Amino acid sequence: QKGGYKHFMLKEIFEQPRVITDCMTGRVDWQRKEVSLPELDALPVPRRLHIVACGTSYHAGMWGRHLLENWAQIPVNVEIASEFRYRNPILDPDDVILVISQSGETADTLAGLRIARERGIRVIGLCNVVGSSIARESDTVIYTQAGPEISVASTKAMCSQMTVLTLMALAWGKRKGCLADDILQNAVTGLSKLPGQLEMELPRMRSEAQSIARQYSSARSFFFLGRGQCYPLALEGALKLKEISYIHAEGYASGEMKHGPIALIDPAFPTFALALSDGLYSKVKSNLEEVQARSGKIIALANPGHDLNVDHTWIIPEAWGPLGSFLALPALQLFSYEAADYLGKDVDQPRNLAKSVTVE
Ligand code: M6R
Repeated sequence: QKGGYKHFMLKEIFEQPRVITDCMTGRVDWQRKEVSLPELDALPVPRRLHIVACGTSYHAGMWGRHLLENWAQIPVNVEIASEFRYRNPILDPDDVILVISQSGETADTLAGLRIARERGIRVIGLCNVVGSSIARESDTVIYTQAGPEISVASTKAMCSQMTVLTLMALAWGKRKGCLADDILQNAVTGLSKLPGQLEMELPRMRSEAQSIARQYSSARSFFFLGRGQCYPLALEGALKLKEISYIHAEGYASGEMKHGPIALIDPAFPTFALALSDGLYSKVKSNLEEVQARSGKIIALANPGHDLNVDHTWIIPEAWGPLGSFLALPALQLFSYEAADYLGKDVDQPRNLAKSVTVE
């Protein structure tokens, strides 16, 4: 069942190249460089989108917001479902709610969906489990086609959610006429290369993760820092680490460090930074210099050609534009996996947690 892997989590991390491919099957025309999500064809492009989700699915939603805003020019509000359900959100009849859930059974996300439907707002469900409650109760369902995810720690589901969100932003941007042709072309070309790039890189990533995790797993706390699209990845890296290794970790937007959290930095409180070569690289670099000035140790995930001078630079290959996130995500997952395994934790069944959270 585990296909020769020690844990389901590791197997599911290594399945991600296939997951990206499956998720795009029938949705991308590689020859004509076009994207279509037939599930959305009958719907108008939303005037405003509210993404409602929990945990890792919420992080995927935060990540997708950037693309939906940049490429499809749709204003997006991303909310934790347990908050959304007890606010009195201002919803216009033309708004659309996008609920994201691997299991399709998360109680708070389902409650958010029901509130929207009671108020006559259209709901799109982005789910992995076919026939789940969220899939059945949504007006429109888009399946992530990632296959069963067994490990409590969600990995390949996030990768598949990010893939669909990318396709949604491209499809809606094209339909609205606000997506530049070269962006569509570059995105489709980049997407076609991703599974192969990731497949090649995963074994190397695993050994790097193993070596860094061994050196740092005695730390009691970690910061995970990122900016822009790497901020939700930083939150996800911190969630994964605490969930399976029980090491305290906080994900922060790196620009926020100076507003308080940097007070915690000392040589025993390491920082895991996402410092990819995107438009915010120089900003992240200067945030990291502030951490170094307080004697903080830094592990930085970076692309070739970086000019960082930190304790550990972990180089991952570059991908076009925002697609670089698809290579950063498995590095974060593997780092947590290796730390938890090294510390002898029950990786697939962490204490106090269930795979689907069907109670409030
Ligand atoms: O099934 P869902 O995507 O609705 O689950 C949401 C969260 O419970 C889930 O992502 C949780 O945070 C994971 N265990 C994180 O690895």
